[in-house]
Amino acid sequence: MDSASLAIYTKVQEGEKLFKEAGCNSCHTVCEKLTGPALKGVTQRRKKEWIYQAVTNFSKLRKSGDATAENLYQQYKVEMPNQEFVKKEWIDKILVYVEEGKCM
Ligand code: HEC
Repeated sequence: MDSASLAIYTKVQEGEKLFKEAGCNSCHTVCEKLTGPALKGVTQRRKKEWIYQAVTNFSKLRKSGDATAENLYQQYKVEMPNQEFVKKEWIDKILVYVEEGKCM
């Protein structure tokens, strides 16, 4: 494996570990809808800053009048719990894992 692919591979591994350790996997998968949306493609549909806010404090984002957050809530009828403990660097790694995932 060349060093560029090795670097990606390492990030994917770290991202998968964090995805489980932070408990995202109890409500999300990469490709299938669970309690929450399938996360593949989320970096194309949302801005990074929005994702950080949604993951760390969804209810605050929704209360601020964010239409995307409100629409998601209306679809899923559950508010993602506040996860202030989740660092931006973790989210970045989780997103690499999510976006590298292959779906049918
Ligand atoms: C208790 C269930 C639950 C957990 C745990 C959870 N989520 Fe969510 N997540 C949701 C739901 C439900 C939504 C849809 C928005 C809403 O209604 O809150 C969502 C939405 C999202 C979105 C936006 C998806 C989109 O299509 O815009 C992202 C990104 C996300 N979650 C990432 C994470 C990450 C990363 C973690 C772990 C740190 C996590 N979630 C943990 C339930 C959860």
